[in-house]
Amino acid sequence: MYLDHNATSPLRPAAREAMLRAIHGAAGNASSVHAFGHAARMAVETARDAVAALLGARSEEVVLTGGGTEANNLALFGAVRGAPAGGGRLVTSAFEHPSVLAVMEDLEARGFEVIRVPPDRSGVVAADRLLAAAVPGTVLVSLMLANNEVGTLQPVAPLAAELRRRGVLLHCDAAQAAGKVAIDVRALGVDLLSLAAHKFGGPQGAGALYVRAGLPLAPHLRGGGQELNRRPGTENIAALAGLGAAAQEAAGDLQEEARGMAELRVRLEERVAALGLGSRVNAAGSPRLPNTTSLAFQGLSAESLVIALDLEGVAVSAGSACSAGTLRRSHVLEAMGLEEEAGSSIRVSLGPRTTQQEVDAFVEILAKVVAGVRGAAALPLPARR
Ligand SMILES: Cc1ncc(COP(=O)(O)O)c(C=O)c1O
Repeated sequence: MYLDHNATSPLRPAAREAMLRAIHGAAGNASSVHAFGHAARMAVETARDAVAALLGARSEEVVLTGGGTEANNLALFGAVRGAPAGGGRLVTSAFEHPSVLAVMEDLEARGFEVIRVPPDRSGVVAADRLLAAAVPGTVLVSLMLANNEVGTLQPVAPLAAELRRRGVLLHCDAAQAAGKVAIDVRALGVDLLSLAAHKFGGPQGAGALYVRAGLPLAPHLRGGGQELNRRPGTENIAALAGLGAAAQEAAGDLQEEARGMAELRVRLEERVAALGLGSRVNAAGSPRLPNTTSLAFQGLSAESLVIALDLEGVAVSAGSACSAGTLRRSHVLEAMGLEEEAGSSIRVSLGPRTTQQEVDAFVEILAKVVAGVRGAAALPLPARR
């Protein structure tokens, strides 16, 4: 049973079909002038239009990338390149994805001053704290739209107007939000917004960056003039076709899918609470993505739970999916001041096709697994031989 959609959500059939069509049909290079190139170009532009429609953007404002990490790198490196020598101030939250935090560290080493504003215990970064940090000399603020571990939605829109008045750029990592909640870049008021196809049923290794019309953005990679000189490299036609098809379907089915996942999430949380397992939902009272729940089990190790659930055929993760395939304490929960929970929480993330039967079966398996792990934790260590 797969309940780890925030790590990656399986390909939507429509995306798979679009990818196969592209592999078989669009055999050319999208930059070539002949008919084969033209077919490939059509596939790229169809994907761009679908992403633009998902975000309420214009097609020219969408740069197609090789995923969410690349979109975040391009946004941050690309936007600050024009900053005055010696840097300036950058403001972000302490619980961003590593593809933002690591870029911030790099920019700090290059002379920028980076302020990392912590979220509160409810998993929200207060807009007024971010604004207070964005003093004169601030170049850019980067705030995620939805946190990948606890699912909390961040106050991006309330920041935008004031930051624009101050001449500070606003980047938003919407990798977890896109395709799960409605996004309108104009209503949000952002200058830059990243998304990742595989979080909403597109393929891994495809993503996009919205760049507000007129905003200068330097390429991060060096090469040819693709993507209006902002992202060089021959386009991955099949992956982009999959991105476009997933974006189109997600946009069309958004309300219905979100409602379905939210109902199942409520059911799951209620049933888990009723089991009396000593669990708590992290950030329970905050506005959250419809599909995400982060469950803390006092006194238990998240790692043991994830492994025990895996042995029962259930895929969830401890905090976020870890890039190296190992499990670490959650930097997200630590940033929220939830020290104990950081080592004892699992993230359960539903998908648009998750069923009620699966949720009920999960709750049953969870009860058994938690009892087993608690029992094992209470046993004395075996004597050494
Ligand atoms: C919030 C957030 N940003 C960025 C990314 C990176 O996206 P990708 O896996 O496409 O590089 C992820 C993926 O885990 C994410 O959850």
